[in-house]
Amino acid sequence: MSILSRRKKHLGNGSKYFYEKPLHIIKGEDVWLIDEKGKRFLDVYNNVAHVGHSNPRVVSAITEQSKTLNTNTRYLHEKIILLAERLAATMEEGLDVAYFCCSGSEANDLAVQLAKAHTKHQGCIVLSNAYHGNTTEIFQLSPEDCPKEQRKDWIKTIPGPRGFIGNESAYIKKLREEAETLASSRHGVACFIADSVFSSDGIYEIPKGFLKKIYQEIRSFGGVVIADEVQSGFGRLGDQMWAYQDDAVVPDIVTMGKPMGNGHPVSALLTHRELIESLDQAYNGNSYFNTFGGNPVSAAAALSVLDIIEEDSLIDQAGQVGDYLKKQLRNTLQNKESVVEIRGKGLFLGIELDDPSKTAKTMEEMMRQGVLVGKTGPTNSVIKLRPSMTFKKEHADLLVEKLNQCL
Ligand SMILES: Cc1ncc(COP(=O)(O)O)c(C=O)c1O
Repeated sequence: MSILSRRKKHLGNGSKYFYEKPLHIIKGEDVWLIDEKGKRFLDVYNNVAHVGHSNPRVVSAITEQSKTLNTNTRYLHEKIILLAERLAATMEEGLDVAYFCCSGSEANDLAVQLAKAHTKHQGCIVLSNAYHGNTTEIFQLSPEDCPKEQRKDWIKTIPGPRGFIGNESAYIKKLREEAETLASSRHGVACFIADSVFSSDGIYEIPKGFLKKIYQEIRSFGGVVIADEVQSGFGRLGDQMWAYQDDAVVPDIVTMGKPMGNGHPVSALLTHRELIESLDQAYNGNSYFNTFGGNPVSAAAALSVLDIIEEDSLIDQAGQVGDYLKKQLRNTLQNKESVVEIRGKGLFLGIELDDPSKTAKTMEEMMRQGVLVGKTGPTNSVIKLRPSMTFKKEHADLLVEKLNQCL
C-alpha cells in the first residue's frame, strides 16, 4: 500500500494536505525541504522552522538536555526560569510572568481563561477570519474554521482592516458597537484577541496608532487585550521582537508558539501578576498545570532559538531581506493584471490576487517549480510568504523569479 493510502486509512486528518499531489518531505536543511526523490524546495511558508530547518544548534541543545533530564515545572529548573526571564526582558515592564504550554492553541486557551477570570466577564471579540487554535473554547474564537451557525453568542467579530485603513474611526465605531452589544448582555467584555498583522484576514501592515485605539476601546469596556504572536512574533516583522511593539502598545497578555522551539512543541504566554492571581483565585488556589509545558528540553530548545536570533542578528536581517523582497516583488509583479496588492512587513508578506482560484493555481505551480508558498485571507486570495528568518537575498531573488514566471 502506498504511503498516501496508508495515511488516508489511518489518519483522522488524512485527506488534508497542502498540494493536490501531496509532497513527501523527508529532510529539512535551513530554508530548504527535500522530498523522497531528492528534489529540493525553497520553503517560503513554514515559519515554525524559525532559525532554519534542522538547525544544528537547536538540535544539539535538545539532544544535550534530553540526555541529562526531562521533567516538568513542578521542580525547580534553571533553564525554565532563565527562559521566563529572557522572554520577560523582551517585553514591557510588568509583562513578566510566564506560563508554558505545548501549542499556540493551549496558550490562547489559557489566555482567555485568564481574561475571563480577571474581568469576571465572558464576552470575546475577534477578527472575522481569525484563527487562534483548536481547543473547544478557541475553536469558537477561530471564525476561519468555526462555522458561523455553531458560534456562541458570547463571541462577536469585527472585520479585517481592508477598507478601513485611513478611516480608523469607522473601524473603532464598529468595534464599539460589538463591545456595547456584549456589555449590555449577560456576557460583558472579557477580551479582544488578535494577531497584530491580522494575518488570517489577509496580512496587513497596521498603520501607527490603529492598535492603540483598539486597545483603548476594549479597555474602556473593562476588557483585556490579548496579542497573539504565534505567527508574527520572534522578530518576523524585522524591527521588533513582537509585532504589537510596532505600534508601541502594551497588551495585557501576549501568547506565542510555533517558531518558539523551531519545531519542538513549546508555547507560552506572558502577562501581569494580577491576572495570574485572578486565575488562581477563580480556581481556589489551584494554578494551571501542564505536564509537558515548559519542560527542560522545551526550555533548552526555546533558549537556543533566542540565542540564535540574537547571535546571528536575525531581526535586522529579516528587516533588510524583507524590505528587499517587498521592493523586488513590487518592481517585478505590481503591474501584472492579476496582482491587486503587495503588502506586509519584514518576512511576513502577502500578494493579493484578483481571484482565489489563481492563488491556488499559483501555489501549485510554484511547488512544481521548486518553491513552497502558502495562501490566506477570507477568500484565500492572498499568497502568503513567511519563510525562516535565515532567508537571504539570494533566496528572495529565486522566489521573485519563479513568481514572475508563474503569474
Ligand atoms: C495566529 C495563530 N494563533 C494560534 C495558532 C494555534 O497554534 P497551534 O497550531 O500550535 O495550536 C495558530 C496556528 O496556526 C495561529 O496561526
